[in-house]
Amino acid sequence: MKTLVLPGLIDPHVHLRDPGQTKKEDFYTGTCAALAGGFTTILDMPNNKIPITSSVILNKKILIAQKKIISDVGFYFGSLGDNLNEFARVKDKVFGLKLYLNQTTGNFLIDKKNLENIFKAWTEIIPKKPILVHAEERSVRDIIEIIQKIKHTVHICHISLKSELKQIIKAKKENLPITCGVTPHHLFLTEKDEKVLGPFGRMKPPLATRKDQDFLWKNLSFIDVVESDHAPHTIEEKKSKNPPFGVPGVETTLPLLLTAVSDGRLTIDDVLRLCYKNPAKIFNIKQNKETKIEIDLDKSYFIKNEKLFTKCGWSPFNGWRVKGQIRKVFIRGTKVFENGKILVKSGLGQVVYVS
Ligand code: DOR
Ligand code: ZN
Repeated sequence: MKTLVLPGLIDPHVHLRDPGQTKKEDFYTGTCAALAGGFTTILDMPNNKIPITSSVILNKKILIAQKKIISDVGFYFGSLGDNLNEFARVKDKVFGLKLYLNQTTGNFLIDKKNLENIFKAWTEIIPKKPILVHAEERSVRDIIEIIQKIKHTVHICHISLKSELKQIIKAKKENLPITCGVTPHHLFLTEKDEKVLGPFGRMKPPLATRKDQDFLWKNLSFIDVVESDHAPHTIEEKKSKNPPFGVPGVETTLPLLLTAVSDGRLTIDDVLRLCYKNPAKIFNIKQNKETKIEIDLDKSYFIKNEKLFTKCGWSPFNGWRVKGQIRKVFIRGTKVFENGKILVKSGLGQVVYVS
């Protein structure tokens, strides 16, 4: 057995659905899934059923989370441009502002003509915290144009296309304050898999071509983070006439990346950079030194739906053989996960803040 100890990993992009859609996931099951996947700090998106656009709604969410979470969890704020006066009130409670420039789950879509005002208001009140964007294709160009005018740090979430990454590389070379993430599903699946997976392979942005995927892998040095975009939906919803977008992922990210390490496509240093060092730097997260994970690098096993902790109970990677198993997880020195079992009840995690 080859044991590797790493700091607890940080996933800056999950959708835990609580409150509002707890039949898909809740704070307890979502944080169980995070720990089982080696992630001890996760940042939760604001596209809840009632989006997180006011301090009152955010405070309610924090209170609910405090009772249920067993990993550390931080939050983002959302905006469509009509809540700028709320920014000051949530300043110390969120890790950033999330804006949706393209259609996805929740219909929380921004009118692009509001972008500049939102950027101005956020940068004036909260200059040090990033704005995150769901921006596909043309929207990447629109966002880069805004960053050229208002030099606030922007994290472009889950890029999937060669054309998007090319623009981001150019912007980085021009020293614009821009970072970007990719998801494991865009690194390991293509549009061909969607044909087999059907609605269980449908997400936003959609799975891309092999050419796009190859470009992501070749240019990994320009990619700042791997983010799961853990977006659980029930099997029933996925099989319905109008299936929602999204796939779960926080539990399978690390085993997939470790398999890529074993295949020689990545190094452990890459995994640390993409899943710990950069997310910590971009979102200013300081984890306790005794928050760590222990991995058996030699262990091969199959990802199985029935073994997952996510409430939705499925993964697009069901049946995949992976190499590298998370054995133990410690939070602030307490063992919280060992050999497939969660060892703590709700309430051990902390809501994390940064000022
Ligand atoms: O596929 C997705 N699902 N993409 C998103 O951007 C949102 C997410 C969700 O909330 O279901
Ligand atoms: Zn997302």
